[in-house]
Amino acid sequence: MASSSSSSSSPAARCFTLTLFLLFTCSLAAPLRYQPSPSQLKLDSAKIAAKGQAERMIRSLNLFPKHEANVVFNDQSARDEPRISEKKISLNVSGGPGGGNGPSIKQFGHYAGYYSLPTTKAAKMFYFFFESRVNNSNAPVVIWLTGGPGCASELALFYENGPFQIRDDMSLQWNDYGWDQASNILYVDQPTGTGFSYTTDDSDIRHNETGVSNDLYSFLQEFFKGHSKYANNDFYITGESYAGHYIPALASRIYKGNKNNEGIHINLKGFAIGNGLTDPGIQYKAYPEYALAAKLITKADHDSITSNLVPPCQSAISACVLRYQKTMRGFTLLRLLSNGAVPRR
Ligand SMILES: *[C@@H]1O[C@H](CO)[C@@H](O)[C@H](O)[C@H]1NC(C)=O
Ligand SMILES: *[C@@H]1O[C@H](CO)[C@@H](O)[C@H](O)[C@H]1NC(C)=O
Ligand SMILES: *[C@@H]1O[C@H](CO)[C@@H](O)[C@H](O)[C@H]1NC(C)=O
Repeated sequence: MASSSSSSSSPAARCFTLTLFLLFTCSLAAPLRYQPSPSQLKLDSAKIAAKGQAERMIRSLNLFPKHEANVVFNDQSARDEPRISEKKISLNVSGGPGGGNGPSIKQFGHYAGYYSLPTTKAAKMFYFFFESRVNNSNAPVVIWLTGGPGCASELALFYENGPFQIRDDMSLQWNDYGWDQASNILYVDQPTGTGFSYTTDDSDIRHNETGVSNDLYSFLQEFFKGHSKYANNDFYITGESYAGHYIPALASRIYKGNKNNEGIHINLKGFAIGNGLTDPGIQYKAYPEYALAAKLITKADHDSITSNLVPPCQSAISACVLRYQKTMRGFTLLRLLSNGAVPRR
């Protein structure tokens, strides 16, 4: 066993590293500002065609019209941009259901766009919506939320459970296991500031699940207004990782909205969280037990981790939560003192 003086700081440091790893594996897998290496820039003609198609799609959706950032401060011209809304899309996907003999991609109800959120100053939330591949308008409506926090849902769309996947030559192919086989599925970039979702007012940036779930609730209200034929369908909330925070919060928000007859009734039937991070203070101490049961570690390792690593890990988590709460109180105070005029970041 390590001496107590040398082991007292390293477990906390290791816990911190583990926390960062869990929180950011998703962000690392999909960096927001992807910088290809020079060799990757030498694209062959198929890749150039695929890249051109992606660029045309992005232009046609009017994503990031003038600005690099997801939060554009104090810029009236950005605010006055023409209203952006939903477009039907037909991506160039090779093959197809039924080995290419099925319906053409143009016949599928595939959409992307923005809804302005009426409960915010200026937030616009970006989404993809794929109607069920088997043309079943009675199939449940499912919303997918990637975690992060701050991971765009395109990660799941193109690499996990979406209708198509990206091949090595950067073209798209149908995913036999896409969830659009059994549902009408929505992928949303949220909270505001994530992926293609943006705002021109920084008070629209959320700091807790109350704000996040209010925005998602108002997104869903706009969605069901725009797609009223789905408003009576069964509805499920799904997602992964840090969405372990968002999903229960949204479920609770919908339950409240329905109960108070706030808007369109949402037929919430259930939710599913994969690999969720909901409460590290509770979850991290269960890892040694899990690792032992899965025979990844020995009983001796388990006992040593439980007595030497778990307690400092838990105090590090509590200290982190406390510091976050203090920072947020400080931030609110700063906002009040500066009379709403928050400096540019
Ligand atoms: C779609 O892909 C095919 C080859 O897979 C290519 O020949 C065609 O030019 C592409 N169309 C567009 C609009 O990119
Ligand atoms: C789905 O049904 C509609 C009308 O019922 C039809 O116009 C469309 O082509 C169908 N789409 C697919 C992909 O089969
Ligand atoms: C959530 O954050 C907002 C600021 O975005 C703040 O006004 C509110 O008090 C916070 N709510 C909780 C429960 O912390």
